[in-house]
Amino acid sequence: MMKRDFISLKDFSSQELGNLLSLAKQLKHNPQQTADFLRGKSFALIFQKPSNRTRVSFETGIFQLGGNPIYLAPDDISLGKREPTADIAKTLSRYVNGIVARVFSHQDILDLAKFATVPVINGLSDLEHPCQAMADMFTIQENFSSFKGLKMAYIGDGNNMTNSLLIAAAKLGMNMSVATPKGYEANVDYVKSARECAVKSGAVITLTNSPQEAVNGAQVVYTDTWVSMGQEGETAKRLRDFAGYQVDEKLIGLAAKNCIFMHCLPAHRGQEVSETVIDGPYSVVFDEAENRLHMQKAVMIFLYTFKHL
Ligand code: CP
Ligand code: NVA
Repeated sequence: MMKRDFISLKDFSSQELGNLLSLAKQLKHNPQQTADFLRGKSFALIFQKPSNRTRVSFETGIFQLGGNPIYLAPDDISLGKREPTADIAKTLSRYVNGIVARVFSHQDILDLAKFATVPVINGLSDLEHPCQAMADMFTIQENFSSFKGLKMAYIGDGNNMTNSLLIAAAKLGMNMSVATPKGYEANVDYVKSARECAVKSGAVITLTNSPQEAVNGAQVVYTDTWVSMGQEGETAKRLRDFAGYQVDEKLIGLAAKNCIFMHCLPAHRGQEVSETVIDGPYSVVFDEAENRLHMQKAVMIFLYTFKHL
């Protein structure tokens, strides 16, 4: 029996991503329709790192679909330490109907998916954060009628968020300009893959070291932390290297008049974003956080209605 996992946006066609957006919209406006979708089903939520949004939106989403979420904290299951990841995946597959995992190494998610017989969902790895990126695309769609002709400026660290946003933007036809300091560029394989997808969708992907160039005329201005989970030891160096990359009033003044400001959260006011911007009128950060719930319900329904399952 074939199953689908939700590990990388690279694995999904533009049409499938569009279907996820439509489903999330339906779920947001009519949540009762699917209240029994996961009745009798359990999901294991394996977390190697802290979480507010991902954990709570998955637990709530599974509950709203009639299912049972089982949260496994870093010390409960000790992924990769207490027993082989393959044994964890095979064991959990005998109990639960799906696995959500937040891991340090993307390889751990790939291993879970390889050995699990139930769908595995990436709740953040060092390479991708696909649930967040799709919730963000949904938020952009709520604010602008179409992705075509829009420009997203991503300012800061070329990290897991950047990689997932690059693929999502390229597949859905939105232009994206990424401004990072030298040495903090997005993963080269993701840039290559995004550019290949962009040829088909007509999107333009640009990389620069200039935040001003990236933000110029953009309708969407996005940033993320300069110090991702697991990089805490590099904090002092990173704060020095990212000086000049803060999204503040002056920088966002170069964007389109109707621009929105986005951040996956948690945010650090005074570092990657000024207080006036994140708490200002163009900020949609809490809409993004809410949309995690609707998008993840859409992802779970999508994986269970996949035609081969
Ligand atoms: N954006 C996001 O994934 O938040 P958490 O780390 O709180 O889950
Ligand atoms: N890039 C951040 C995203 C947090 C949601 C991290 O990996 O910590």
